[in-house]
Amino acid sequence: MADLSVTVAGLTFRNPVLTAAGPTSRDGATLMRAAAGGAGGLVTKTVSTRPAEVPRPNMAALEPGAGGLRKGLLNAELWSELPVERWLESEYRAALSTGLTVVASIGYTPEEVTALAPRVVETGVHALEFSTHYVGGHAEIARALRDAVDVPIFAKLSPHVDVVATARAVEEYVDGIVAVNTYGPCLRIDIETATPVLGGPGGRGWMSGSALRPIALRCVADIALAVDIPVVGVGGVTTGEDAIEFFMAGASAVQVCTAAVTYGDGVYGRIAQQISDWLDSHGYDSVDDIRGAALEHLDRGVTLSPPPRVDMELCTLCGLCARTCVYGAVLVDREAHELRIDPGRCQACGMCISVCPHRALGGVTMATHEDR
Ligand SMILES: Cc1cc2nc3c(=O)[nH]c(=O)nc-3n(C[C@H](O)[C@H](O)[C@H](O)COP(=O)(O)O)c2cc1C
Repeated sequence: MADLSVTVAGLTFRNPVLTAAGPTSRDGATLMRAAAGGAGGLVTKTVSTRPAEVPRPNMAALEPGAGGLRKGLLNAELWSELPVERWLESEYRAALSTGLTVVASIGYTPEEVTALAPRVVETGVHALEFSTHYVGGHAEIARALRDAVDVPIFAKLSPHVDVVATARAVEEYVDGIVAVNTYGPCLRIDIETATPVLGGPGGRGWMSGSALRPIALRCVADIALAVDIPVVGVGGVTTGEDAIEFFMAGASAVQVCTAAVTYGDGVYGRIAQQISDWLDSHGYDSVDDIRGAALEHLDRGVTLSPPPRVDMELCTLCGLCARTCVYGAVLVDREAHELRIDPGRCQACGMCISVCPHRALGGVTMATHEDR
Protein backbone atom coordinates (compact mmCIF):
# COMPACT_ATOMS: atom_id res chain seq x y z
CA MET A 1 0.00 0.00 0.00
CA ALA A 2 1.26 3.49 -0.86
CA ASP A 3 2.81 5.57 1.91
CA LEU A 4 0.66 8.69 2.07
CA SER A 5 2.78 10.68 4.50
CA VAL A 6 4.54 13.70 3.02
CA THR A 7 7.28 16.01 4.25
CA VAL A 8 6.88 19.60 3.11
CA ALA A 9 9.38 22.28 4.12
CA GLY A 10 10.58 19.99 6.91
CA LEU A 11 7.05 19.42 8.25
CA THR A 12 5.58 15.92 8.27
CA PHE A 13 1.90 15.39 7.45
CA ARG A 14 0.22 11.99 7.88
CA ASN A 15 -1.34 12.44 4.44
CA PRO A 16 -1.18 15.24 1.85
CA VAL A 17 -4.79 16.47 2.30
CA LEU A 18 -4.81 19.48 4.63
CA THR A 19 -7.51 21.84 5.75
CA ALA A 20 -7.44 25.35 4.22
CA ALA A 21 -8.04 28.66 5.98
CA GLY A 22 -11.80 29.19 5.92
CA PRO A 23 -15.04 28.37 7.70
CA THR A 24 -14.03 24.71 7.93
CA SER A 25 -10.99 25.67 10.06
CA ARG A 26 -12.59 28.53 11.96
CA ASP A 27 -11.88 27.36 15.53
CA GLY A 28 -10.43 24.53 17.60
CA ALA A 29 -13.59 22.42 17.57
CA THR A 30 -13.89 22.62 13.78
CA LEU A 31 -10.22 21.70 13.39
CA MET A 32 -10.65 18.70 15.69
CA ARG A 33 -13.56 17.53 13.55
CA ALA A 34 -11.41 17.90 10.42
CA ALA A 35 -8.71 15.78 12.08
CA ALA A 36 -11.30 13.13 12.93
CA GLY A 37 -12.47 13.34 9.30
CA GLY A 38 -9.03 12.30 8.12
CA ALA A 39 -7.20 15.58 7.38
CA GLY A 40 -3.45 15.03 7.07
CA GLY A 41 -2.61 18.35 8.71
CA LEU A 42 -4.38 21.45 9.94
CA VAL A 43 -4.18 24.93 8.43
CA THR A 44 -6.19 27.34 10.54
CA LYS A 45 -8.49 30.25 9.64
CA THR A 46 -6.56 33.50 9.09
CA VAL A 47 -6.21 35.48 12.31
CA SER A 48 -5.43 39.18 12.38
CA THR A 49 -4.84 41.74 15.12
CA ARG A 50 -8.56 42.49 15.42
CA PRO A 51 -11.61 40.27 14.83
CA ALA A 52 -13.24 40.61 11.41
CA GLU A 53 -16.64 42.23 11.08
CA VAL A 54 -18.14 39.97 8.47
CA PRO A 55 -20.99 40.95 6.09
CA ARG A 56 -24.06 38.73 5.98
CA PRO A 57 -24.92 36.86 3.85
CA ASN A 58 -21.33 35.89 3.13
CA MET A 59 -21.58 32.54 1.30
CA ALA A 60 -23.55 31.47 -1.76
CA ALA A 61 -23.48 28.46 -4.07
CA LEU A 62 -22.15 29.34 -7.53
CA GLU A 63 -25.55 28.50 -8.95
CA PRO A 64 -28.88 27.97 -7.15
CA GLY A 65 -29.44 24.50 -5.66
CA ALA A 66 -27.14 21.80 -4.39
CA GLY A 67 -25.71 21.21 -7.89
CA GLY A 68 -24.54 24.82 -7.91
CA LEU A 69 -22.53 24.26 -4.75
CA ARG A 70 -20.77 21.36 -6.43
CA LYS A 71 -19.45 23.86 -9.00
CA GLY A 72 -18.13 26.14 -6.29
CA LEU A 73 -19.12 29.03 -4.11
CA LEU A 74 -18.77 32.77 -3.74
CA ASN A 75 -17.86 34.18 -0.35
CA ALA A 76 -17.55 37.55 1.28
CA GLU A 77 -16.05 36.19 4.49
CA LEU A 78 -12.99 37.96 5.81
CA TRP A 79 -10.53 36.69 8.41
CA SER A 80 -11.38 35.17 11.82
CA GLU A 81 -14.23 36.69 13.76
CA LEU A 82 -12.60 35.45 16.97
CA PRO A 83 -10.18 37.73 18.82
CA VAL A 84 -6.55 36.66 18.58
CA GLU A 85 -6.47 36.21 22.38
CA ARG A 86 -9.03 33.42 22.04
CA TRP A 87 -6.84 31.66 19.47
CA LEU A 88 -3.79 32.06 21.71
CA GLU A 89 -5.61 30.79 24.80
CA SER A 90 -7.54 27.84 23.47
CA GLU A 91 -8.05 27.34 19.72
CA TYR A 92 -4.45 26.54 18.67
CA ARG A 93 -4.15 24.26 21.71
CA ALA A 94 -7.26 22.35 20.61
CA ALA A 95 -5.81 21.97 17.10
CA LEU A 96 -2.48 20.78 18.52
CA SER A 97 -4.27 18.24 20.75
CA THR A 98 -5.02 16.21 17.61
CA GLY A 99 -1.32 15.40 17.26
CA LEU A 100 -1.35 16.69 13.67
CA THR A 101 1.01 19.28 12.25
CA VAL A 102 -0.62 22.70 12.64
CA VAL A 103 0.00 25.64 10.30
CA ALA A 104 -1.41 28.94 11.60
CA SER A 105 -2.61 31.42 8.99
CA ILE A 106 -2.06 35.07 9.89
CA GLY A 107 -2.61 38.38 8.09
CA TYR A 108 -2.29 40.99 6.73
CA THR A 109 0.11 44.00 6.79
CA PRO A 110 3.83 43.70 7.70
CA GLU A 111 3.09 45.45 11.01
CA GLU A 112 0.18 43.13 11.81
CA VAL A 113 1.99 39.89 10.99
CA THR A 114 5.17 40.85 12.83
CA ALA A 115 3.12 41.71 15.92
CA LEU A 116 1.17 38.45 15.70
CA ALA A 117 3.78 35.93 14.59
CA PRO A 118 5.88 35.50 17.78
CA ARG A 119 2.77 35.25 19.95
CA VAL A 120 1.21 32.63 17.68
CA VAL A 121 4.43 30.60 17.42
CA GLU A 122 4.72 30.57 21.23
CA THR A 123 1.57 28.39 21.38
CA GLY A 124 3.52 25.57 19.74
CA VAL A 125 2.09 25.68 16.22
CA HIS A 126 4.54 24.17 13.77
CA ALA A 127 4.49 26.72 10.95
CA LEU A 128 2.93 29.94 9.70
CA GLU A 129 1.07 30.74 6.50
CA PHE A 130 0.51 34.38 5.61
CA SER A 131 -2.19 35.65 3.36
CA THR A 132 -1.82 38.91 1.44
CA HIS A 133 -5.25 38.70 -0.15
CA TYR A 134 -6.28 42.23 0.75
CA VAL A 135 -2.98 44.10 0.94
CA GLY A 136 -0.36 42.79 -1.54
CA GLY A 137 3.27 43.57 -0.65
CA HIS A 138 4.28 39.93 -0.40
CA ALA A 139 8.06 40.36 -0.25
CA GLU A 140 7.93 43.00 2.45
CA ILE A 141 5.66 40.83 4.60
CA ALA A 142 7.77 37.72 3.98
CA ARG A 143 10.95 39.55 5.01
CA ALA A 144 9.32 40.94 8.16
CA LEU A 145 8.08 37.48 9.14
CA ARG A 146 11.44 35.81 8.45
CA ASP A 147 13.03 38.22 10.95
CA ALA A 148 10.29 37.64 13.52
CA VAL A 149 10.14 33.80 13.79
CA ASP A 150 12.15 30.70 12.98
CA VAL A 151 9.39 28.20 12.13
CA PRO A 152 8.68 27.35 8.45
CA ILE A 153 6.75 30.11 6.66
CA PHE A 154 4.36 29.66 3.74
CA ALA A 155 3.25 32.54 1.50
CA LYS A 156 -0.29 32.10 0.20
CA LEU A 157 -0.86 33.75 -3.16
CA SER A 158 -4.02 35.01 -4.81
CA PRO A 159 -4.69 33.96 -8.42
CA HIS A 160 -5.13 37.55 -9.61
CA VAL A 161 -1.48 38.50 -9.01
CA ASP A 162 1.48 37.58 -11.20
CA VAL A 163 2.15 34.37 -9.28
CA VAL A 164 5.54 33.70 -10.85
CA ALA A 165 6.92 37.17 -10.10
CA THR A 166 5.46 37.02 -6.59
CA ALA A 167 6.79 33.54 -5.85
CA ARG A 168 10.25 34.61 -7.04
CA ALA A 169 10.08 37.76 -4.91
CA VAL A 170 9.34 35.83 -1.70
CA GLU A 171 11.41 32.71 -2.39
CA GLU A 172 14.44 33.80 -0.34
CA TYR A 173 12.33 34.49 2.77
CA VAL A 174 9.81 31.65 2.86
CA ASP A 175 9.90 27.84 2.99
CA GLY A 176 6.94 27.16 0.71
CA ILE A 177 4.22 28.70 -1.45
CA VAL A 178 0.50 28.00 -1.12
CA ALA A 179 -1.49 28.58 -4.31
CA VAL A 180 -4.18 29.84 -4.51
CA ASN A 181 -6.63 31.97 -2.58
CA THR A 182 -10.08 32.71 -3.99
CA TYR A 183 -10.61 34.43 -7.38
CA GLY A 184 -12.45 37.67 -7.88
CA PRO A 185 -14.10 39.92 -7.26
CA CYS A 186 -17.16 38.09 -8.62
CA LEU A 187 -20.90 38.75 -8.57
CA ARG A 188 -24.19 36.86 -8.43
CA ILE A 189 -27.66 38.41 -8.54
CA ASP A 190 -30.94 37.07 -7.16
CA ILE A 191 -33.22 37.63 -10.18
CA GLU A 192 -36.41 37.69 -8.08
CA THR A 193 -35.20 40.73 -6.15
CA ALA A 194 -32.54 42.13 -8.51
CA THR A 195 -30.16 42.32 -5.55
CA PRO A 196 -26.71 40.78 -5.08
CA VAL A 197 -26.77 37.47 -3.21
CA LEU A 198 -23.86 38.49 -0.96
CA GLY A 199 -23.59 41.23 1.62
CA GLY A 200 -20.01 42.27 0.87
CA PRO A 201 -19.17 45.73 -0.52
CA GLY A 202 -21.19 46.17 -3.72
CA GLY A 203 -22.41 42.60 -3.32
CA ARG A 204 -19.06 41.36 -4.57
CA GLY A 205 -17.53 38.06 -3.46
CA TRP A 206 -14.68 35.65 -4.15
CA MET A 207 -14.90 32.35 -6.00
CA SER A 208 -13.68 28.95 -4.79
CA GLY A 209 -14.40 25.30 -5.54
CA SER A 210 -14.37 23.25 -8.75
CA ALA A 211 -14.65 26.29 -11.03
CA LEU A 212 -11.40 27.61 -9.55
CA ARG A 213 -9.45 24.37 -10.04
CA PRO A 214 -8.01 24.93 -13.55
CA ILE A 215 -6.84 28.41 -12.54
CA ALA A 216 -5.25 27.06 -9.36
CA LEU A 217 -3.63 24.19 -11.23
CA ARG A 218 -2.08 26.56 -13.79
CA CYS A 219 -0.77 28.76 -10.95
CA VAL A 220 0.75 25.75 -9.14
CA ALA A 221 2.48 24.56 -12.32
CA ASP A 222 3.81 28.04 -13.15
CA ILE A 223 5.17 28.43 -9.62
CA ALA A 224 6.65 24.93 -9.50
CA LEU A 225 8.50 25.67 -12.74
CA ALA A 226 9.78 29.00 -11.41
CA VAL A 227 11.01 28.34 -7.86
CA ASP A 228 12.82 25.61 -5.94
CA ILE A 229 10.75 25.66 -2.74
CA PRO A 230 7.71 23.37 -2.22
CA VAL A 231 4.26 24.36 -3.48
CA VAL A 232 0.99 23.43 -1.77
CA GLY A 233 -2.01 23.37 -4.13
CA VAL A 234 -5.44 24.67 -3.16
CA GLY A 235 -8.49 25.40 -5.29
CA GLY A 236 -11.33 23.03 -6.02
CA VAL A 237 -9.75 19.81 -4.76
CA THR A 238 -12.74 17.50 -4.32
CA THR A 239 -11.50 14.02 -5.21
CA GLY A 240 -8.31 12.02 -5.08
CA GLU A 241 -7.94 12.46 -8.84
CA ASP A 242 -8.06 16.25 -8.44
CA ALA A 243 -5.26 15.98 -5.90
CA ILE A 244 -3.23 13.74 -8.24
CA GLU A 245 -3.52 16.46 -10.90
CA PHE A 246 -2.07 18.98 -8.43
CA PHE A 247 0.79 16.62 -7.51
CA MET A 248 1.61 16.12 -11.19
CA ALA A 249 1.61 19.92 -11.58
CA GLY A 250 4.29 20.06 -8.87
CA ALA A 251 2.33 20.32 -5.59
CA SER A 252 3.71 18.53 -2.52
CA ALA A 253 0.35 18.58 -0.71
CA VAL A 254 -3.14 20.02 -1.18
CA GLN A 255 -5.54 22.01 0.95
CA VAL A 256 -9.32 21.66 0.87
CA CYS A 257 -11.97 24.22 1.82
CA THR A 258 -15.06 24.29 -0.43
CA ALA A 259 -15.32 20.49 -0.74
CA ALA A 260 -15.42 20.33 3.07
CA VAL A 261 -18.27 22.89 3.06
CA THR A 262 -20.08 20.84 0.40
CA TYR A 263 -19.45 17.30 1.63
CA GLY A 264 -18.55 17.63 5.32
CA ASP A 265 -15.57 16.70 7.50
CA GLY A 266 -15.20 13.18 6.10
CA VAL A 267 -14.07 14.58 2.74
CA TYR A 268 -10.40 14.87 3.78
CA GLY A 269 -10.09 11.15 4.60
CA ARG A 270 -12.08 10.22 1.51
CA ILE A 271 -9.76 12.21 -0.78
CA ALA A 272 -6.73 10.69 1.00
CA GLN A 273 -8.12 7.18 0.48
CA GLN A 274 -8.76 7.90 -3.20
CA ILE A 275 -5.17 9.14 -3.59
CA SER A 276 -3.92 5.94 -1.95
CA ASP A 277 -6.10 3.75 -4.20
CA TRP A 278 -4.95 5.60 -7.33
CA LEU A 279 -1.27 5.31 -6.39
CA ASP A 280 -1.72 1.59 -5.64
CA SER A 281 -3.58 0.87 -8.86
CA HIS A 282 -0.91 2.66 -10.90
CA GLY A 283 2.02 1.02 -9.14
CA TYR A 284 3.37 4.06 -7.27
CA ASP A 285 4.67 3.95 -3.70
CA SER A 286 4.16 7.56 -2.67
CA VAL A 287 3.13 11.04 -3.78
CA ASP A 288 6.82 11.80 -4.36
CA ASP A 289 6.80 9.30 -7.24
CA ILE A 290 4.42 11.46 -9.27
CA ARG A 291 5.22 14.96 -8.04
CA GLY A 292 5.89 17.26 -11.00
CA ALA A 293 5.33 14.46 -13.55
CA ALA A 294 3.45 16.83 -15.86
CA LEU A 295 5.94 19.70 -15.72
CA GLU A 296 8.19 18.41 -18.50
CA HIS A 297 5.16 18.36 -20.83
CA LEU A 298 4.15 21.94 -20.16
CA ASP A 299 6.66 23.71 -22.34
CA ARG A 300 5.75 21.90 -25.56
CA GLY A 301 4.45 23.78 -28.58
CA VAL A 302 1.01 23.56 -30.19
CA THR A 303 -0.11 19.95 -30.69
CA LEU A 304 -2.02 18.55 -33.64
CA SER A 305 -3.67 15.21 -33.03
CA PRO A 306 -5.46 12.88 -35.47
CA PRO A 307 -9.09 11.74 -34.78
CA PRO A 308 -9.41 9.66 -31.59
CA ARG A 309 -9.34 5.90 -31.62
CA VAL A 310 -12.14 3.92 -29.96
CA ASP A 311 -11.65 0.99 -27.59
CA MET A 312 -14.86 -1.06 -27.83
CA GLU A 313 -13.74 -3.14 -24.83
CA LEU A 314 -14.28 -0.03 -22.70
CA CYS A 315 -17.10 1.72 -24.60
CA THR A 316 -20.62 1.27 -23.14
CA LEU A 317 -22.32 3.12 -26.03
CA CYS A 318 -23.65 5.66 -23.52
CA GLY A 319 -23.62 8.28 -26.27
CA LEU A 320 -22.16 11.16 -24.25
CA CYS A 321 -19.45 11.62 -26.86
CA ALA A 322 -21.99 11.83 -29.68
CA ARG A 323 -24.14 14.34 -27.78
CA THR A 324 -21.22 16.68 -27.21
CA CYS A 325 -19.69 16.37 -30.69
CA VAL A 326 -20.50 19.71 -32.33
CA TYR A 327 -19.20 18.38 -35.69
CA GLY A 328 -21.64 15.43 -35.81
CA ALA A 329 -18.69 13.09 -36.29
CA VAL A 330 -19.57 10.43 -33.70
CA LEU A 331 -22.07 7.71 -34.57
CA VAL A 332 -23.42 5.33 -31.93
CA ASP A 333 -24.51 2.15 -33.68
CA ARG A 334 -26.21 0.10 -30.96
CA GLU A 335 -27.26 -2.70 -33.33
CA ALA A 336 -23.74 -3.34 -34.50
CA HIS A 337 -22.45 -2.53 -31.00
CA GLU A 338 -20.08 -0.02 -32.51
CA LEU A 339 -18.98 3.57 -31.98
CA ARG A 340 -17.74 5.09 -35.20
CA ILE A 341 -15.82 8.30 -35.76
CA ASP A 342 -16.30 9.84 -39.21
CA PRO A 343 -12.80 10.99 -40.19
CA GLY A 344 -14.29 13.34 -42.79
CA ARG A 345 -16.19 15.28 -40.12
CA CYS A 346 -13.99 14.84 -37.08
CA GLN A 347 -11.92 17.93 -36.32
CA ALA A 348 -9.94 16.16 -33.56
CA CYS A 349 -11.16 18.85 -31.14
CA GLY A 350 -10.81 16.38 -28.26
CA MET A 351 -14.17 17.01 -26.55
CA CYS A 352 -15.32 13.38 -26.84
CA ILE A 353 -12.08 12.17 -25.24
CA SER A 354 -12.53 14.55 -22.32
CA VAL A 355 -16.17 13.65 -21.60
CA CYS A 356 -15.92 9.85 -21.92
CA PRO A 357 -16.31 8.46 -18.39
CA HIS A 358 -14.73 5.13 -19.39
CA ARG A 359 -11.60 6.37 -21.22
CA ALA A 360 -12.88 4.46 -24.26
CA LEU A 361 -11.73 7.24 -26.57
CA GLY A 362 -8.03 7.86 -26.74
CA GLY A 363 -5.75 10.48 -28.13
CA VAL A 364 -2.89 9.30 -30.28
CA THR A 365 0.60 10.46 -29.34
CA MET A 366 0.60 14.15 -29.98
CA ALA A 367 2.83 15.71 -32.63
CA THR A 368 4.00 19.27 -32.13
CA HIS A 369 4.31 21.86 -34.89
CA GLU A 370 8.07 21.63 -34.48
CA ASP A 371 7.98 17.85 -35.02
CA ARG A 372 6.01 18.08 -38.28
C1 LIG B 1 -15.87 31.06 3.03
C2 LIG B 1 -14.40 31.09 2.79
C3 LIG B 1 -13.56 31.74 3.68
C4 LIG B 1 -12.17 31.77 3.46
N1 LIG B 1 -11.35 32.38 4.37
C5 LIG B 1 -10.01 32.41 4.14
C6 LIG B 1 -9.13 33.00 5.09
O1 LIG B 1 -9.52 33.41 6.17
N2 LIG B 1 -7.81 33.04 4.77
C7 LIG B 1 -7.31 32.53 3.60
O2 LIG B 1 -6.10 32.60 3.37
N3 LIG B 1 -8.12 31.93 2.71
C8 LIG B 1 -9.44 31.87 2.95
N4 LIG B 1 -10.27 31.24 2.05
C9 LIG B 1 -9.69 30.65 0.83
C10 LIG B 1 -9.45 29.15 0.98
O3 LIG B 1 -8.50 28.88 1.97
C11 LIG B 1 -8.94 28.56 -0.37
O4 LIG B 1 -7.72 29.17 -0.70
C12 LIG B 1 -9.92 28.77 -1.51
O5 LIG B 1 -11.25 28.69 -1.06
C13 LIG B 1 -9.71 27.76 -2.63
O6 LIG B 1 -9.83 26.44 -2.16
P1 LIG B 1 -11.21 25.58 -2.27
O7 LIG B 1 -11.62 25.63 -3.70
O8 LIG B 1 -10.84 24.22 -1.77
O9 LIG B 1 -12.19 26.27 -1.39
C14 LIG B 1 -11.64 31.17 2.29
C15 LIG B 1 -12.50 30.51 1.40
C16 LIG B 1 -13.86 30.46 1.65
C17 LIG B 1 -14.74 29.73 0.67
